[in-house]
Amino acid sequence: MTGTQLTKPPTWYKRSVFYELNVRTFYDANEDGVGDLRGVLAKLDYLQDLGVDTIWLLPITLSPLRDGGYDVSDYYAIHPDVGTLSDFRQLVDAAHQRDLKIMVELIPNHTSDQHPWFQASRDPAHPEHAVYRDFYVWSETDQRYRDARIIFLDFETSNWAYDPLRKAYYWHRFYAHQPDLNYDNPQVQRAMMRVIQFWIDQGADAIRVDAPPYLYEREGTNCENLPETHAYYKRLRAFVDAYAPGTMLLAEANQWPEDVRAYFGDGDEFHMNFHFPLMPRIFMALAKEDRTPIEAIMARTPDLPDICQWGVFLRCHDELTLEMVTPEERSFMWEYYAPEERMRLNLGIRRRLAPLLDNDPRRIRLANSILLSFIGSPVIYYGDEIGMGDNIWLEDRDGLRTPMQWNSTTNAGFSTAPAEKLERPVISEGDFGYLKVNVDLQLDDPGSLLNWMRTMLQVRKQHLAFGEGKLHLLRPANRAVLAYVRSHETGNLLVLNNLSSQPQRVEVDLSDWRVSCLRDACTGCVRQVVPDADIVFNLEGYQYAWWILEKEN
Ligand code: NOJ
Repeated sequence: MTGTQLTKPPTWYKRSVFYELNVRTFYDANEDGVGDLRGVLAKLDYLQDLGVDTIWLLPITLSPLRDGGYDVSDYYAIHPDVGTLSDFRQLVDAAHQRDLKIMVELIPNHTSDQHPWFQASRDPAHPEHAVYRDFYVWSETDQRYRDARIIFLDFETSNWAYDPLRKAYYWHRFYAHQPDLNYDNPQVQRAMMRVIQFWIDQGADAIRVDAPPYLYEREGTNCENLPETHAYYKRLRAFVDAYAPGTMLLAEANQWPEDVRAYFGDGDEFHMNFHFPLMPRIFMALAKEDRTPIEAIMARTPDLPDICQWGVFLRCHDELTLEMVTPEERSFMWEYYAPEERMRLNLGIRRRLAPLLDNDPRRIRLANSILLSFIGSPVIYYGDEIGMGDNIWLEDRDGLRTPMQWNSTTNAGFSTAPAEKLERPVISEGDFGYLKVNVDLQLDDPGSLLNWMRTMLQVRKQHLAFGEGKLHLLRPANRAVLAYVRSHETGNLLVLNNLSSQPQRVEVDLSDWRVSCLRDACTGCVRQVVPDADIVFNLEGYQYAWWILEKEN
């Protein structure tokens, strides 16, 4: 192995707060207009001060960039715009010195059509055609696997595309320029193991596995979550455990809780998976000022094996997906959160957190209170810690991936290159323009969102119950309040979130917890309680409260 490895406690990811960033728009250290790995290195102090633990880098490998780098043309090379392998290893070393971890992407399902494997596969005259012929899923007809849904509904009408050179159709679950690899071919299975080994060798602490459900195709199924797919991931996991114990695998399986459970196996498949269905329900609960949608999805959420963990997020680099809601819920969400056509994409909403919540500081804090205190390990999307906006006039999901707003200088301090050379335009106008929303301004303002996030991350860190504890939903009569206890042998906390804009009175039954007094986890204020009586809280509109439960002796 070449990269430095941290000695990792086996379930380190349970205590981790993740920070997802797009290297190309984070910080440009070499002044060419594109963010780079040296730029991330330069901002490690910022990330450490923010209080996050694991940095998730969106794709950095070679790619024609027609899908943000999820269209890989070489799994082993860093895209020259963002740097070199040596830059990557330096970043890992510097991160490890600060006790930060690095998570990279593995994109096993598909490659770019520019990948040499595909070029050799599609061309019968290619010298290596015999080797790569069966690396992809080819067919004489486009009528196979008709039960598989189309995912990029705004762009594709079929999961098959015709290749004139091979004179056959190839299978693709995403864009037509992203042919799916053929996992029935043992060479493909081995090739992807070598890729993961390579990134572990470079020092990666964790791997986010892109689009995991779709590795295999079988007639008469929807070609998702197939037993063969799970069997492959179990082998991948066994390899990782043997080769580099402590390396965490995070699945991006956008599925219902019942289907997602299989991705954890008996603790022998993925360590983590995102809880996709929870995310839109947090927004639904906020919109309806009623906790019911969250309660309903938690009732369907299975327990996980001990070493496993949910990944929880509010926003990410993709559209706010509405795949895991009912058609009625989807219509509600679109009408409420995406009133303009350009805010919608596929089955989702392409907006950032702050604009979704009307840039209302109380609602943004409330949503983050849920993110940081509910189940699992939270993932913060870069820029959301300062309430950055989006640009719906950019294509696809680019409007969610605009340059990080560092300060009030040219290009928001992202790059000193001329504006026309920037990877993407900086948001410069309106309430979200960089003169109003940027890191430096907020660092100087004790009441800023950024300073609030820093404080809350510090508070979270002091209580293992958040990352490692159990969740006990409380059911007070007032449904405008989402209330729960997080419990752990080291201590228990009560969290209250008033989803309503109006003040709410809520009576909470803590009789199971033998509480003598409550201590505000943020301010230290103490409140005495009468044993065995319901406790009454009066919450301001959108108020959250995190209380430490002090035990009776
Ligand atoms: C999931 C990624 O998050 C998304 O950005 C990408 O477009 C698809 N996978 C296809 O690779």
